[in-house]
Parts: sequence; structure tokens; C-alpha cells
Amino acid sequence: MSEFKNVTVIDHPLVQHKLALLRDKNTGTKDFRTLLAELSTLMAYEVTRDLPLDEVNIETPIAPTKAHMLINCKVGVVPILRAGLGMTDGIMSLIPTAKMGHIGLFRDPETLRPVTYYCKLPADVEERDVIVVDPMLATGGSACEGIRKVKESGCKSVKLMCLVSVPEGIRAVQEMHPDVKIYTAAIDDHLNEHGYIVPGLGDAGDRIFGTM
Ligand code: PRP
Ligand code: URA
Repeated sequence: MSEFKNVTVIDHPLVQHKLALLRDKNTGTKDFRTLLAELSTLMAYEVTRDLPLDEVNIETPIAPTKAHMLINCKVGVVPILRAGLGMTDGIMSLIPTAKMGHIGLFRDPETLRPVTYYCKLPADVEERDVIVVDPMLATGGSACEGIRKVKESGCKSVKLMCLVSVPEGIRAVQEMHPDVKIYTAAIDDHLNEHGYIVPGLGDAGDRIFGTM
């Protein structure tokens, strides 16, 4: 947990090591994408820790036994475009049966408010445990709007997975969506005058897609 209620900081050494490499301004696009995918897999392991298991009867080569599987649980993964896309392969490699939705948002550079340009969610999203995914939680505007869209479609179980966050963004999400658990690898210091996380890692979308 962390000083914030409902916030889990994933401080596993592998996560922290890879995050340090990711933050480095000398890490190029190819390595950035690889590291982000690896980090997403590691984080997904923690985010899915409380998924409900069902008991099943199986036979090993030695004897019949009871075991546990994820049978009735349905997961939805919803990246916030663009940067959230950099995290989806890493998550889907762990949960290949998850359905994916997409929410297109960008931050107006002047107002820092989110502008929505796309939203397509799984038809049965209301039955799913949804993980909204975005590497950066800065002012929190994009995450709040993304989560609002998912809830508007009837979903009752939403988690937010973000790599780097700041207290301002966490507070914004907690105020608008107190039921949503937040998982992050780091809570950074503050936002600068342009709304960038300090120290952060720069513009996540640009670093993933090489559009700097
Ligand atoms: C980035 C990031 C988040 C948002 C975070 O997206 O991926 O979605 O900013 O900022 P906020 O918490 O202040 O809303 P951006 O608007 O740069 O769009 P992009 O992913 O398409 O580059
Ligand atoms: N979006 C980013 O990509 N990086 C930040 O630091 C803040 C918002």
C-alpha cells in the first residue's frame, strides 16, 4: 500500500530496475517499448492478485485432485490511447482471454483538460472486471474521464494501472472515483508548469511511438 488509501505502489525490485531504465532520457524508442511491455506484465501480476478462483477437479498423471482456475471471472483491459497501448501486449500475454476496449483521449496542451476522440468498449463490459491502463497519471483528467466512460457503459468493477503517478493525479481520481483501486510503480514529486510529471519520464506517447 502507500500513504494514499486504495493505492498500491508496486515496489518489486524488477519493476523498480526496469522503471529506472525507462526513465533514462538515453533510452531509445525500441528499448522503451520493450521495457514498458515487461513492466506491464509484472504490474499485471499484482493488479490481478484478487481475481476470484473457482475450484475444479482435475487428474494429474499420478492422482485426481482439486485445483483452482479462473473460470467465471471476466477481465476487460482498456488502454487510454495513445500511450496506454504500450502496456497492452504485456498484460494480454498474462491474460489472453481478456477482452479489450479502447478510449481515445488527448490532453489539450493549453487547458490540460482531456479531449475524447474515440471510445469502443466490449459489449459485455458491465460483466467484466476492467483494468484501465495508462502509463502516466498527471493531473488525473484523462484517467478520470476514461474511468467515467467505462462506468457509463455499466461496468461496476474498475481498477487503474498507471506506471508513474503524482499526488495531484491520485487525489483527482480518488475524489471522482473513490471505489477505484490505483496501482502504480512510482508516486513522483510534482507536476511542472506544463503539466509534466517531475521527474517522470517525459511524454510517454512520444517515447513509445517515436514522435518527439
Ligand atoms: C498522456 C498520458 C495520459 C495523460 C496524462 O497522454 O498518456 O493519457 O497524458 O495526463 P493527465 O493525467 O494530466 O490527464 P497525452 O495527452 O499526451 O496523449 P497521447 O497518449 O496520445 O500522447
Ligand atoms: N503525459 C505524459 O506523457 N507525461 C507526463 O509527464 C504527463 C502527462
